[in-house]
Amino acid sequence: MISQNTIQQILSRIDIVDIVGFFVKLKKRGTNYLGLCPFHNEKTPSFTVSPAKEIYKCFGCGRSGNSISFLMEHEKYSYAESLRWLAAKYNVEIEETETSPEFKQQQQVADSLYIINNFAQKYFSDALFNSEEGTTVALSYLKERGFREDIIKKFQLGYNPETRDGFTKAALASQYNLDYLQKSGLVNVRDGNAYDNYRGRIIFPIHNQSGKVLGFGARIIKNNDKAPKYINTPENEIYIKSKLLYGAYFARLAIDKADECLLVEGYTDVVSLHQAGIENVVASGGTSLTPDQLRLVKKYTNNLTIIYDGDSAGIKAALRGLDLALEESLNVKLVLIPDNEDPDSYLQKVGAADFTAFIAANKKDFILFQLNIALKDAGNDSTKKSIVVNQVAETISKINKTEDFTKQQDYIKQCSEILKIEESGLHALVNKFIREKVNKAENRASREVTADDGSADISSGVEDDISALFNRDEMHERAMVRSLLEFGLKDWDEEQKVAVYVFKEMEDNQLEELIDNKELKKVLQTYKIWYDEGIEPTAKNFLYNDDLQMSSLVVSIMDFNYEVSPKWKEHYEGHIPTRDELFKEEVFSTLNYLKLRKIKRLMDENQRDLEKATIAEDQLILVQTHQHLKQMEIELTRQLGTVIFR
Ligand code: UTP
Ligand code: MN
Repeated sequence: MISQNTIQQILSRIDIVDIVGFFVKLKKRGTNYLGLCPFHNEKTPSFTVSPAKEIYKCFGCGRSGNSISFLMEHEKYSYAESLRWLAAKYNVEIEETETSPEFKQQQQVADSLYIINNFAQKYFSDALFNSEEGTTVALSYLKERGFREDIIKKFQLGYNPETRDGFTKAALASQYNLDYLQKSGLVNVRDGNAYDNYRGRIIFPIHNQSGKVLGFGARIIKNNDKAPKYINTPENEIYIKSKLLYGAYFARLAIDKADECLLVEGYTDVVSLHQAGIENVVASGGTSLTPDQLRLVKKYTNNLTIIYDGDSAGIKAALRGLDLALEESLNVKLVLIPDNEDPDSYLQKVGAADFTAFIAANKKDFILFQLNIALKDAGNDSTKKSIVVNQVAETISKINKTEDFTKQQDYIKQCSEILKIEESGLHALVNKFIREKVNKAENRASREVTADDGSADISSGVEDDISALFNRDEMHERAMVRSLLEFGLKDWDEEQKVAVYVFKEMEDNQLEELIDNKELKKVLQTYKIWYDEGIEPTAKNFLYNDDLQMSSLVVSIMDFNYEVSPKWKEHYEGHIPTRDELFKEEVFSTLNYLKLRKIKRLMDENQRDLEKATIAEDQLILVQTHQHLKQMEIELTRQLGTVIFR
């Protein structure tokens, strides 16, 4: 872990204009900088960077954040990677802290699992080549399927014999811990008896990027309807299925060289293609691709070619999640293997040369492929057709990086031709989806519950859509947190800071419980804790907090260009007071709005009690309470009225 000290040093040197300017061409405009947004396609710049607030915001697509979130989003770095990048840029030496006990514990489990897997891999390989059962049952099976010994050895294939607990006994005799053996998925325990999990199965070890064994896929040899064809390692500290691709370790160099990654379904497909000299191949295990897997591919190449058998189940799985590939700007092509063959069997049938030629000649663009299939399904049904148009527009909208702009235009052209619709119509639809997505991301970042009625209108501006989603109450909550963040450390009077005054007011009037938005409440609570502990609760410290949700909330709260209301201009000649000068009024107003809300709620409650009350005496008290509350309401409203608050 990077030490807090290092983080502080990095943060003290951050210059957002410098960092964003490294990737985006910026021009100075007043106090801000302006450029073309790197997150969506635009011709006129609406991407604004504020050096004073250390945030950026695009008024076109709505994306906003700080230096670190910029690196995370633009460069796909993790939080820690962003810090390291910044440390290198600003020559800050990184100081690592002691790792936490939990982390150490996890490391230790991971290490033990690697050691057990290594032992198991050797045991299974040995059983395959050196035991009677292994050679006669398993090795002969593999050879019959056409696998050569050198390739079997390269992939470290093995065999777990039929005996109930052969492996288990060997592992226990070698002092391996039974808990870890179970965690590794190699051993099961039933009624107090430990036994082998992969009995009578061919073993495919699954390697990580550096060749260590993460887990296994175990294939049954004899056809058996009751048993699953493959048993796979359960998820544990090191085997995380969504993050791995079978064969990646052996494919790395070839993918790099070919600048293309082939993706197949099965373990045997990978081994088989390798044997034929086609080494840039990995397998997903028949499920749809996850974002992590796509990122793994993207590390080596931008070109992904999916080779699946023609049966529809596999294709559907493959196509699912592929919109994500577009977001990662991967070029995805699809090849379908004919005649109910899979890549392994087809290769064995036609030979390496024909196989390679077939792949080269049959690569289909994945978007156009999907469109053609969907159109065929829709037939002449116009409702179904319009669904197809929507789907393809949504898919195209996922291509949303500046460098892919022409690609997106190309797709719009080609797809509108296939669909026989106006190009401009499809264009508008694609833009609608882009906007919807940005809105959704904004909402997720700033509040838990989204009021998504799915009726986003093409014509309405993004800003309008977003603000319409916040109810008035929440606007006041945000205003309150914002005034605290901006003015909290100023002097309220001779005795106290703004923050102290605000918290005292909140406590005296029990206002905190009125804050509905949990995230905003968390910022308030954190502010208080930091203040009490002597940590400066500045907006900057919130912005660069590793609680990213809180950080992005603070970004969204911070005002960019606080525009002076036109009313002010009418009232004042010459000097127009800035928000900074009017901060007391603002703090006062935000508190008053909360108090007003409290009174409204008390009045509602009182009203309900009054409706239920049957005893005259009670009724009288309740009516008096109502009058009292009403009086307070009038007073607060009057006070608010004297302060012009935008
Ligand atoms: P296949 O059924 O196509 O298997 O499943 P295969 O790898 O081609 O094996 P052979 O050629 O019939 O021997 C494709 C992949 O789906 C996963 C495995 O990763 C397999 O390689 N799978 C399949 C499972 O995880 N469990 C199963 O029961 C079946
Ligand atoms: Mn197969």
